[in-house]
Amino acid sequence: TVRRMTVPQIANRKGGEPIVSLTSYHAHTAGIVDKYADFILVGDSLGMVMHGMETTVGVPLDLMIMHGKAVVRGTKRALIVVDMPFGTYEESPNVAFRNAAKIMKETGCGAVKLEGGARMAETIHFLTERGVPVMAHTGLTPQSSHVMGGFKTQGRDEDTWPAHEADAKAVSDAGAFAVVLEGMVEPLAARITKQIDIPTIGIGASADCDGQILVLEDMLGLNPWTPKFVKVYGQLGPMIEDAVKSYAEEVKTRDFPGPDQTYT
Ligand code: KIV
Ligand code: NA
Repeated sequence: TVRRMTVPQIANRKGGEPIVSLTSYHAHTAGIVDKYADFILVGDSLGMVMHGMETTVGVPLDLMIMHGKAVVRGTKRALIVVDMPFGTYEESPNVAFRNAAKIMKETGCGAVKLEGGARMAETIHFLTERGVPVMAHTGLTPQSSHVMGGFKTQGRDEDTWPAHEADAKAVSDAGAFAVVLEGMVEPLAARITKQIDIPTIGIGASADCDGQILVLEDMLGLNPWTPKFVKVYGQLGPMIEDAVKSYAEEVKTRDFPGPDQTYT
């Protein structure tokens, strides 16, 4: 039997072989990613990517649980991390524990992720002390986009570096086993990665991090627009369009279904 990657195995990769991660929301894609990724994130980006929302703020807990279940069912190797959506953890450590426990019990995932640095340290400590492994997420935190005025690369102004460094230090000290650094200039990501004892997982945060994550649909070319930090490794959008177009044409010309697809 294949054992899943564990939280300590991820934590122990600090400074070692880079940690490979992608998001997945479905059993089928997760099964493919599972062959190559150390952990798979069921990200709340699914609200935007799969459900057409403008931000992640509207994502409900039940939706995270539904997609989390699908990804756990479709995988056997990778550690599965599920995002805690906006409004399910910020209020208090108690509320956060109740919802994190619900996510873990109902999906079977191995860890949760939440956004925020120093302000979430007490909650991260509370959860990890009670059996919930926490991946933190600092830098650009999409759930705060309404406060930040959009999705903005962090650390362009050097005066902001101490606060970002303090955030990363706080989540590490609080017991997070890894931290996602999102949308951050290279020198800041490099400084943070050197300063803390837990792996940093970068997205738009340079190759200096201890690992990388991308949204699967972004790197597969399924979005009409991709930000600068995304490398498109496969053009699935145009491939899907070609397939759908051919099908539509063949239905109209009655070339589909042909003899091979027909019960005579
Ligand atoms: O929701 C998500 O996909 C994420 C990653 C971008 C880190 O949080
Ligand atoms: Na997220």
